[in-house]
Amino acid sequence: MRNDETINNIKLEYDILKDDFSRAGEASSNIKKILRQLGIDSTIIRKVAIVTYEAEMNIVIHSEGGRITVEIYPTFVIIIAKDEGPGIENISLAMQEGFSTASSKVRELGFGAGMGLPNIEKHSDDFSIKSEKGSSTILTITININE
Ligand SMILES: Nc1ncnc2c1ncn2[C@@H]1O[C@H](COP(=O)(O)OP(=O)(O)OP(=O)(O)O)[C@@H](O)[C@H]1O
Ligand SMILES: [Mg+2]
Repeated sequence: MRNDETINNIKLEYDILKDDFSRAGEASSNIKKILRQLGIDSTIIRKVAIVTYEAEMNIVIHSEGGRITVEIYPTFVIIIAKDEGPGIENISLAMQEGFSTASSKVRELGFGAGMGLPNIEKHSDDFSIKSEKGSSTILTITININE
């Protein structure tokens, strides 16, 4: 049985392809557009846009591909970014500002400042990262709508 709350919920899902720089950023733009149509506060939209963009780019650049799922509830938004590996060996190092394993080619495109994960954490009301070498990286991000 679904209760009244779940009937109002919206779930968005985006498959993100590895190395697909031509479409990179499309998922986060689309999420932003839908939140605008729903009349969500611009401060919340900005936070969701930042975290989804950084998660999307990390999947494109650092992973074998993955999926971003956004669930919109009346009082919060949950974003789950899950990829198909190769995982992160040292999470605390990856979370440090300025740490990046991006190639010189990727840096030429303007990425690789090592600021994506720290920015995701900064703009989240709740943030968890689960990863290990040889498996998926899973980010679970909550952004509150009513503070
Ligand atoms: N989904 C992922 N899979 C594997 N490794 C990842 C993933 N996301 C991040 N990493 C690792 O963590 C490091 C730090 O990520 P972060 O997003 O902070 O910086 P960046 O992507 O290198 O640069 P920027 O985000 O500033 O363009 C990456 O360089 C990479 O080594
Ligand atoms: Mg990044």
